[in-house]
Amino acid sequence: MRILVTGGAGFIGSHLIDRLMLEGHEVICLDNFYTGHKRNLLKWFDHPYFELIRHDVTEPIRLEVDQIYHLACPASPVHYQYNPVKTIKTNVIGTLNMLGLAKRVKARFLLASTSEVYGDPEVHPQTEDYRGNVNTIGIRSCYDEGKRVAETLAFDYYRQNDVEIRVARIFNTYGPRMLENDGRVVSNFVVQALRGIPLTIYGDGSQTRSFCYASDLVEGLMRLMNGDHQGPVNIGNPDEYTILQLAEAVQQKIDPSSAIRFEPLPQDDPRRRKPDITRAKEWLGWQPTIPLQQGLDYTIADFRARMFDSEATSSSAASEDPLRDRVKPLS
Ligand SMILES: NC(=O)c1ccc[n+]([C@@H]2O[C@H](COP(=O)([O-])OP(=O)(O)OC[C@H]3O[C@@H](n4cnc5c(N)ncnc54)[C@H](O)[C@@H]3O)[C@@H](O)[C@H]2O)c1
Repeated sequence: MRILVTGGAGFIGSHLIDRLMLEGHEVICLDNFYTGHKRNLLKWFDHPYFELIRHDVTEPIRLEVDQIYHLACPASPVHYQYNPVKTIKTNVIGTLNMLGLAKRVKARFLLASTSEVYGDPEVHPQTEDYRGNVNTIGIRSCYDEGKRVAETLAFDYYRQNDVEIRVARIFNTYGPRMLENDGRVVSNFVVQALRGIPLTIYGDGSQTRSFCYASDLVEGLMRLMNGDHQGPVNIGNPDEYTILQLAEAVQQKIDPSSAIRFEPLPQDDPRRRKPDITRAKEWLGWQPTIPLQQGLDYTIADFRARMFDSEATSSSAASEDPLRDRVKPLS
């Protein structure tokens, strides 16, 4: 198939492209490089089935494709709050453009939505029929309300224009290629511990999150795209950890003597977040396979290699990582 991945130069998108290329598809990556980088895709540059287009999804584009994975949108608060108007334009106009394209060429369209559509949830764990508790005027709204509109657009294009849609609600995902400065909790802790500076916890650390390793997430997205259910489907790891537990796990792995510093909680930070993945199990036969301890080992090995360009690339954790097995280009 010819497959378009918007946001394909980013963290999740580039891992998805690795999988699609290894399965022998023709892949077009479309990215404006706001948070994505060519280095994530370097290994595919000379491949005849790969094409990279610098393009902003807020502008229309004409392409012939069979499937569209629509991931373009900054995902970390630091980046999506830097230019909130641009973030909401990306979510609304960008999604409209990509759904318009899907309609024209009869491509199947998968939206990378988010657990943020549940806001600060009043039900726990979150099932897909929970409608959320979102602040329409808060500093996260450009992202979470933007994604809610994107979901609405997808379902309206389905009802009105028969576009084949798939909607994935992605929960916190981590792994190699996360940006050092993106302010997400796993990358924050790993980078701070590797630099030997205190790990910053916002609030008292009792708020919970669940963490899905990138290869598990990509598998879930591909099953959803190629299955019969349109969703929405939660894709995430239901193992729940407090932020303090995560900090301690990273501390143990990198430097047990590193300090932890507490800072005030930002506005609208959700207290608890954990997916109910019953639907993903039943509809997609999917569940995560990489436990946090193992995923952290892979992630730390990757950060260590990037930050210090050291022998860490050949560490045993790095070489076992399911994502690293996939970096060899096709001949
Ligand atoms: N990582 C997570 O934990 C998580 C959780 C929930 C949802 N998601 C969703 O998954 C998708 C990918 O997230 P990620 O973690 O890989 O983030 P990322 O920031 O690494 O990747 C986003 C990519 O989109 C590109 N992009 C941003 N705006 C664009 C625009 N207007 N036009 C074209 N390209 C644009 C960026 O340059 C980048 O390559 C996003 O839609 C995000 O909302 C991610």
